[in-house]
Amino acid sequence: MSCRIAGVRLPTPLVLASGVWGTSPTLLERAARTGAGAVAAKTCTLAPRRGHRNPTAIDWGHGLINAMGLPNPGAAEEVELLRDAARRLAALGVPLIASIAADTVEDFGRAAAIVSEADPALIEVNISCPNVESSHGEMFASSAEAAAAVTRQVKSSTPIPCLVKLSPNVADIAAIARAVAAAGADGITAINTMPGMLVDAESGAPVLANGTGGISGAALKPIALRCVHEISGAVELPIIGTGGVITGTDAVEMLSAGAACVGIGSAIVFRGENAFSSILEELKVWLAEHGYRCLEDIRGRTHRGAGAAVVVTNPPPVPGWEKTRA
Ligand SMILES: Cc1cc2nc3c(=O)[nH]c(=O)nc-3n(C[C@H](O)[C@H](O)[C@H](O)COP(=O)(O)O)c2cc1C
Repeated sequence: MSCRIAGVRLPTPLVLASGVWGTSPTLLERAARTGAGAVAAKTCTLAPRRGHRNPTAIDWGHGLINAMGLPNPGAAEEVELLRDAARRLAALGVPLIASIAADTVEDFGRAAAIVSEADPALIEVNISCPNVESSHGEMFASSAEAAAAVTRQVKSSTPIPCLVKLSPNVADIAAIARAVAAAGADGITAINTMPGMLVDAESGAPVLANGTGGISGAALKPIALRCVHEISGAVELPIIGTGGVITGTDAVEMLSAGAACVGIGSAIVFRGENAFSSILEELKVWLAEHGYRCLEDIRGRTHRGAGAAVVVTNPPPVPGWEKTRA
């Protein structure tokens, strides 16, 4: 079950996705103790951020939608949390991933240099948060040039390997992946949430205080699989395939699309504290039942051919949907 990403060994292929659970060293440790093979801390920015007003995160029936607005204590205080987390994780052999975001290319470099003081195994460069405004005017993940500029800046600011986290909300994610690969990225995390909105029928008002938010969980899976498939066909970099992985079978699908390992976020909300151990066990059972010996046997199968079998594994649509069609 072990795998490698950017030269870093993960004891299991499941990675705690940034922001969902990992807000404190003790929570990061809990994820590692329950089966995560690497854990990503909450994204931090140079200055502290309060985040948006509540409601900020809602289960809408097919996943979550959130507009947290990157609440965090700022990079200087985050370093202390990362140091504590790194100490706890070292004993478990589980690598720590720091996560950074910024408003300008230069600040990405500064944030990378600061979190490097805690010596995380990897730094995830979050250029794809849909819930914050940047002085750049749009996400850095929106353009190949901006994404490459951030990557170059971070690479010149730290010796620690960097993963660049991409957005599904772009015309050509393979082109963005090629740009960050050429700029020196050591790996890619795909994907961040997809922008969306909930509207309250009675009042007609947006449900989230921020108006819009990012969709994660089950509804995101087909989008994430498509993105990982396209990226793995375009670049040689390892990918943390993230988005809508709730079961071991979802993890199989993500690895089949070309992911090196699998990000787990919203599943923790839907399956509870044992999400990692449950998904890991389901993945092992699936591999054994299908006669596969290791993860490498299933990695990238989507590039080997299509149309083998169609098995719908998702839950049925909302009860009563047939009536709306009548
Ligand atoms: C409540 C919440 C907070 C999040 N915060 C962050 C964050 O701070 N940084 C980041 O890169 N992604 C953040 N994400 C995105 C997740 O890391 C992940 O990319 C996304 O949720 C898709 O994975 P999932 O479907 O397994 O949840 C957040 C997602 C949720 C639901």
